[in-house]
Amino acid sequence: MKFSIVFDNYQANEELEAHWGFACVIGRSFLFDTGSYGSALIRNMRKMSLYPEDILDIFISHPHWDHIGGLPEILDVNRRTTICVPNSCSKKYVEFLSSLSERVVISDSVESLQNKKLFADFYTTGTINKIEQSLIINNEHGLFLVVGCAHPGIVNIVRHAQHMFKKPISYLIGGFHLYNKSKDEIYKTIKALKELDVEYVTPTHCTGDLAIEMFKDEFKENFISGGVGRVIEVK
Ligand SMILES: [Fe+2]
Ligand SMILES: [Fe+2]
Repeated sequence: MKFSIVFDNYQANEELEAHWGFACVIGRSFLFDTGSYGSALIRNMRKMSLYPEDILDIFISHPHWDHIGGLPEILDVNRRTTICVPNSCSKKYVEFLSSLSERVVISDSVESLQNKKLFADFYTTGTINKIEQSLIINNEHGLFLVVGCAHPGIVNIVRHAQHMFKKPISYLIGGFHLYNKSKDEIYKTIKALKELDVEYVTPTHCTGDLAIEMFKDEFKENFISGGVGRVIEVK
């Protein structure tokens, strides 16, 4: 499993542009979120030898500006994509996306998405707390969970994914939304994730500096740092 962070407000490679938001390419053809600024997203991707022309699927965690901002520019380059959106997207926004891409799937409409399966090993949690969906990859290597901003709460999302597949999370990556939390609250969150047997973590984007440091201390060698330009291969 290869995760390439192509958009992040943290910077792992000085040659890439860091702006508020998050986007990650999984493999070469799956794009999770699109950051806030499409031209920068595309420049970053090309510098990482990833190409918008190769993207087949786009997964949108939630319709906030720092996750959907790059969509129009990506679709300008490549219209042959299937976009999976949560049901928190407005009807007008879904219509707009439908006019720009080949197919738009709303993750919670049962007719279009049986058992929350997107294709092969890729699943959605479905829209949690009426705002955000997360991506789950379930294969022989483990259970991988990718989150955008974790607005429903990172612990809730992890519980939800574990409940769906009845096994612990091998790798968790994305924005954990702890930038506005106290040390005590962050500690409780980390403790809960450890109790749920989350194995490896990459907290980035809206996780916040303090929480990232605390994850580093607590997860030790199982902490993998994020930032734009980082490529994580999980075996
Ligand atoms: Fe965000
Ligand atoms: Fe958000």
